[in-house]
Amino acid sequence: MQGSDVRRQLGGGRPPLSGRPRLLERYRSFLPISDSTPRLSLGEGFTPLVHARALGRAIGCPLLFLKVEGMNPTGSFKDRGMVLAVARAMEAGDGALICASTGNTAASAAAYGASAGMEVVVVLPAGQIAAGKLLQAQAAGARVVAVEGNFDDALRVVREITGGSEERAGVRLVNSVNPDRLAGQKTGAFEICDDLGRAPDYLAIPVGNAANISAYWAGFRDYRRERFVDSLPRMLGFQAAGAAPIVIGRRVDRPETIATAIRIGDPASWDRAVRARDDSDGRIDAVSDEEILDAYRDLARHEGIFCEPASAASVAGVRKLAAEGAIDRGGTIVCVLTGHGMKDPDTARRNALQPIAAPATRDGVRAALGW
Ligand code: F0G
Repeated sequence: MQGSDVRRQLGGGRPPLSGRPRLLERYRSFLPISDSTPRLSLGEGFTPLVHARALGRAIGCPLLFLKVEGMNPTGSFKDRGMVLAVARAMEAGDGALICASTGNTAASAAAYGASAGMEVVVVLPAGQIAAGKLLQAQAAGARVVAVEGNFDDALRVVREITGGSEERAGVRLVNSVNPDRLAGQKTGAFEICDDLGRAPDYLAIPVGNAANISAYWAGFRDYRRERFVDSLPRMLGFQAAGAAPIVIGRRVDRPETIATAIRIGDPASWDRAVRARDDSDGRIDAVSDEEILDAYRDLARHEGIFCEPASAASVAGVRKLAAEGAIDRGGTIVCVLTGHGMKDPDTARRNALQPIAAPATRDGVRAALGW
């Protein structure tokens, strides 16, 4: 192809020299940043919105879309808020980051902290973190503290360390109680509207600490306020059965299922999430581990999207509400898939088809396949 043909095909007179935009630049007018905020980036955001045709057909929802947040740099949606929280910590001159985590926040804090040259401490419930997430934090050089307790205990501890009267100067708490995390996570809602050219009718999302559902709702409202869209979605949040509000504050007593779902006893952003639900005429519901794992397998096998199990709560929930007739099945439905399947290799292995042993010959492989 001649140069001019290439340019015509790209749809413009000039070659695309601008390259991949930066998330914080792109949505700057909606974010708390200024010229003095460091331009930190690992290439976060701009994740795919995939039309899930097969799964949508199977559940009678032809306009089912998946927001694939596992495509972020550390494999989860946390990077959207972490990039902003860490950039702002740098701007303030802080030297260290600390968080409690079920794993993804830790992986993200570790990576952005490494990139920013900061010390990172992650406080995790001992024995309850999926292998991939823990390795990410370790690989990035974070100091990992494993506490005997659950996520709620870990969050209480880091809040006490950073927020109490003996506050440690220069240490930034980067859990989602940090407003910069919430602000950055709004960008997921902006991208969905940009890709669809409108707001979806429903936004389905897993709920742990209830920060992401609150952030998305704030993002949709921002976009409507600026008249970039003229409607708002109904917000559908799905918790893992066994988490709050069904059992508030109870210790998680089934550690073998922890990696599957995010089970948080006392969600830090619960009030905001309830407001999102009520203001949007949406709902927050529980889905079982079995429903989550069914959706997890179907996403990989019928859509080619390998998400982490907790992510599949959004699809499991939509499937359930669609079957109950509780949602308009003809509507545009976006399910947020919050993390990548490689985060949790143990659950993947338990659900995997086994390799077929065969001799290294054409006939051997054909015989093994029954071809
Ligand atoms: N999905 C995944 C994969 C998560 O890791 C989390 C939260 C959520 C959904 C829930 O999001 O808390 O904003 O409602 N993970 C936190 C962590 C708790 O420490 O990585 P939320």
